[in-house]
Amino acid sequence: MSAEALYQHMRKKLAHVVPEGELRLKAEIASQIIQLKQEKNALILGHNYMEPALFHSIPDFTGDSLELSRKAAETDKDIIVFCGVKFMAETAKILSPDKKVLLPAKRGGCSLAESITAEDVRALRKRYPGTPVVSYINTYAEVKAETDVCCTSGNAVQVVESLNSETVIFLPDEFLAQNVARETGKHIIFPVPISLNGDKAELDYQIIGWRGRCEVHEKFTVEDIENVRRQFPDVVILAHPECRPEVTAAADFSGSTSAMINHVKKLSAQQYLLLTECSMGDNIVAENPDKEMLRLCSVRCPHMNEITLEDTLKALQFEQYEITVPEDIRARAAQSVERMIAIG
Ligand code: 13P
Ligand code: SF4
Repeated sequence: MSAEALYQHMRKKLAHVVPEGELRLKAEIASQIIQLKQEKNALILGHNYMEPALFHSIPDFTGDSLELSRKAAETDKDIIVFCGVKFMAETAKILSPDKKVLLPAKRGGCSLAESITAEDVRALRKRYPGTPVVSYINTYAEVKAETDVCCTSGNAVQVVESLNSETVIFLPDEFLAQNVARETGKHIIFPVPISLNGDKAELDYQIIGWRGRCEVHEKFTVEDIENVRRQFPDVVILAHPECRPEVTAAADFSGSTSAMINHVKKLSAQQYLLLTECSMGDNIVAENPDKEMLRLCSVRCPHMNEITLEDTLKALQFEQYEITVPEDIRARAAQSVERMIAIG
């Protein structure tokens, strides 16, 4: 597609979201990316949190973590460019070890992935022998390698229920764990260090959690919801399950990023409030111009924000930054991700 044709396509969707001058410049960069993508036989995956001009131009597939890991596993392209954060690109590499996987940012971190180490998981296994470990996909490969089965926000309840185990260790998001505990009717504990625990037996638990948090979703509160409902009584409120359990309980709907997008598409209500990363609101508005997204605040994930069209072009030009995972870790991590994909 020529830069002009791409510009016209983007303008149709993004005229109300991205300023005109910026849009033309972005369309030119996007057009170079698409050309290079074809020359290098590359696949571009774009997470739902990508900024609107990128989200609506270059990805072959957009979606949530679960959908994109499926696409990474299925592709026959030589290169996967992952427009998301590092744990997502690592998951692509875990599932497609023969492909070159590129992340357009040097770091692309995540506060959840950084909240736990493989050593932490080994210590928990020692303390609760025989208890299956479920890890959120927002973890690094070393942690996935110590895990029985991964999950995403889209299938966490299903994965926990599939284990048929009275007790599970669920890592590392404390709020997602509490949301899963509520939905599955399980009682959750957060273990304190053994030195502080004395001899107290920890018998009354069914989910053992970990105190990791998403630095974006932890910011939303029930007061935010109450204030918005007072002003806009008909608003439909959607919250990602990384939000506090009292926030998801006060919202009208909670689900993965794609589940929220589909929910807005399905409803006929006029006003929506999304309690999640703010670029996704712009992406939804672009697809649903008849609907209004209320902006509570502009909480942008600083890590997702590192991914730009400019750096994606460089990623393809210089084949940077390549994701590598040592084979022994990759093979063990793959088992936990593949088990999750088999569950749903
Ligand atoms: P999804 O799997 O719902 O896309 O969420 C990923 C994420 O990092 C949310 O903050
Ligand atoms: Fe991680 Fe939160 Fe950013 Fe998602 S929004 S990538 S969980 S820091």
